[in-house]
Amino acid sequence: MARPEWANWNGSEMPLSEVRVSVTDRAYFFGDGVYEVFRVYNGQMFLDRPHFARLRDSLAQMRIVTDVNRLEQRVRETLSHSGVREGQVYLQVSRGEAPRSHSFPNPPVTPNELIYVREYDKDPYAAYRASGIRVLIVPDLRWKRCDIKSLNLLGNVLASQAADEAGCQEAIMALEDGTITEGSHSTVFGVRGGALVTAPLEANILPGITRKLVLELADRCGIPLEERPFLVDSLHELDELFVTSTIAEVLPIVEIEAHPWKSGEPGPVTRRLQVAYRDYVSAAVGPH
Ligand code: PDD
Repeated sequence: MARPEWANWNGSEMPLSEVRVSVTDRAYFFGDGVYEVFRVYNGQMFLDRPHFARLRDSLAQMRIVTDVNRLEQRVRETLSHSGVREGQVYLQVSRGEAPRSHSFPNPPVTPNELIYVREYDKDPYAAYRASGIRVLIVPDLRWKRCDIKSLNLLGNVLASQAADEAGCQEAIMALEDGTITEGSHSTVFGVRGGALVTAPLEANILPGITRKLVLELADRCGIPLEERPFLVDSLHELDELFVTSTIAEVLPIVEIEAHPWKSGEPGPVTRRLQVAYRDYVSAAVGPH
């Protein structure tokens, strides 16, 4: 059985269940904070540099000031003390505690910094990587700065819940004009005529760390890239579909809204990228 989550709350380590926070934390009132999720393989954080770089960007966009070098150090210590070899690290920085008032507290308050490490008994997505997943297409109800990894995830929560209730594993979100943005917690890719298709990095999607790695791996495999918006109505023109994320890695889509997608099987380019991804992980962290 997985051990309970081990946490670091503002520099003090304890079980996650013992962390206590004031209801005046602005994350509670407003979702006023940012976060990152890291995959841990073989006791090591995977792609930690780009995750910390994105955290710096999110903090800068939200004008939350904290020492990210110190946070990095804290994350490494907490992971090491947790003893976890396979799992994930969650890192959240809120603007801090203050009486409820929309604008930033003035003078600024000290951010609240939470780290916790979750152990996996088994890789939560291994079976779905093999079989592929079902997806639901839902309206993208979110705000216009989805490039910031903020705690404001209500649109994502509602999309994910709709997928669950439809017996699907992920929701793909689309704007009113039919443009596909991203999954509720993943990046969406298509394959057309042997080329990868994915939405360009604009304010309406998160710049996925896994997205960037998959683009590099595709390049190394000689798979061309078309970075362009694509529409719900033109999905049938694609040969393959898959989603990516830190935890899911590369996840084939085999069914859309209860209809088999194309052959109903993961496609060859998706499979190739899954293998390339696994090889990259093994090279980075050793066999695990
Ligand atoms: N989510 N888009 C959204 C909206 C996401 O929430 C995520 C990841 C991604 C993929 O990003 P990355 O490859 O950097 O993990 C795209 C994390 C895992 C989460 O919220 O749990």
